[in-house]
Amino acid sequence: MAERSGILAIDQGTTSSRAIVFDLDGQIVATAQQEFPQHYPQSGWVEHDPQDLLDSTLETCRKALRSAKAAGVHARTIGITNQRETTIIWDRHTGTPIHNAIVWQDRRTAERCAALKAAGHEAMVAERTGLLLDPYFAATKIAWLLDNVAGARERARNGELAFGTVDTWLLWHLTGGQSHATDATNASRTLIFDIHRQCWDDELLALFDIPASLLPTVMDSADDFGTTHADALGMSLPIQGIAGDQHAAVVGQCCFAPGMIKSTYGTGCFALMNTGDQAVPSNNRLLTTTAYRIDGKPTYALEGAIFIAGAAIQWLRDELGIIAHASQSEGLANDAEAEGLYLVPAFTGLGAPWWDPNARGAIFGLTRNTGVAEFVHAALDSVCLQTGDLLEAMAADSGTAQATLRVDGGMVANNWLLQRLADLTGLAVERPETIETTALGAAYLAGLRHGLYDSLDDLKAQWSLDERFEPALAKSHRDHVVEGWHDAVRRTLTTGA
Ligand code: G3P
Repeated sequence: MAERSGILAIDQGTTSSRAIVFDLDGQIVATAQQEFPQHYPQSGWVEHDPQDLLDSTLETCRKALRSAKAAGVHARTIGITNQRETTIIWDRHTGTPIHNAIVWQDRRTAERCAALKAAGHEAMVAERTGLLLDPYFAATKIAWLLDNVAGARERARNGELAFGTVDTWLLWHLTGGQSHATDATNASRTLIFDIHRQCWDDELLALFDIPASLLPTVMDSADDFGTTHADALGMSLPIQGIAGDQHAAVVGQCCFAPGMIKSTYGTGCFALMNTGDQAVPSNNRLLTTTAYRIDGKPTYALEGAIFIAGAAIQWLRDELGIIAHASQSEGLANDAEAEGLYLVPAFTGLGAPWWDPNARGAIFGLTRNTGVAEFVHAALDSVCLQTGDLLEAMAADSGTAQATLRVDGGMVANNWLLQRLADLTGLAVERPETIETTALGAAYLAGLRHGLYDSLDDLKAQWSLDERFEPALAKSHRDHVVEGWHDAVRRTLTTGA
């Protein structure tokens, strides 16, 4: 059997680590996945053990590489994509973390953010970083670690410590401590990176009290990040693509033209609209971010971030125990009669466009008929209605109403959800054949740098439609549902918006 070339994509997510080997046509050849424990030390706090992230990544990579080899495919290069904002600090000499990773969903720095906001810093921060003063982003998490782990500030001052988002942590260990780097998309989520000048910002570092000695080098999303150490994967492979998961999904969905939007449904939901070489500031509390950076040239996006999407279904399964598998949700929602029932899944506060870290979840409109199916219906509706809020804000910011939405992520296997998404947003929803778009985007970036592809544009032909869902609900009905949703959201807000 003639050996074919492939690309290994590492997708280190919030609830599991995955490794996927793609062939050069973007088809999956081998895949491995492993979940790891979540830690909730206090209300609103979420942590991961960095060793779990690393071990599960290494194990899944080894497994996927073995199966790919058995199928006659040899990975030539590696792309990494990752849960963003999650913050790790480790010792440069030993590689040992000084604390658990503080996960993007963690709200422990809400007060610090509120104080910075009250002191009038938000406008400057937003102008430079495209972000808002919310505990979601890395800067206040870094400062928390330095202030709360004994001796950390002094060790940081002495240059003994390194900071990284999850990509950087994995890269460090995959290269045996040789490479301390990140890419422009991950840097764009830290609150200390100027997205216009594309560099760390001294004034922001001073504002958040973060020493520059902690920081990784920021590189393009397709770049030479280092080579795997033999101890890591048993072979030496170049790492040539890195992008935060939502940014990688933009690439995997081939949303290369300004105005194209993708929405990814994982733990949370993140909708990004390509805005080309313009970093468009938002008037509607969306984020401005680097979509990807290639050959030193940033492409920007407007982003709407929702913290709870798939996690709402996980909550029904794991905390309430009212469904056994997430896959049951499709059939149950189909059978439900849930008019007027709204779940606001503000379990870790609300993201865009509300940005209320102190809001907590609520359900409104319970009746004597409300049962399991109705809870499921309300949970899936919340995913669609939150997406609708993001799309409305995007249309207002960009001045153009979109016609289609490309979707991906685990949840989009659910046809009922996608039809409802089309109905409640009024947009046609397109599901591609490959819904592992995040991993595919990381593979594309690495393949591009390795010379396996000539340009991103060459990849467009690989995108193929699986199914398109057209909106079928009368506008008056949609408006009625959305009105009820906004009323429910307003009742959970603590910010009085
Ligand atoms: O910003 C957080 C995001 O990157 C996490 O993505 O796929 O783990 O929900 P996901």
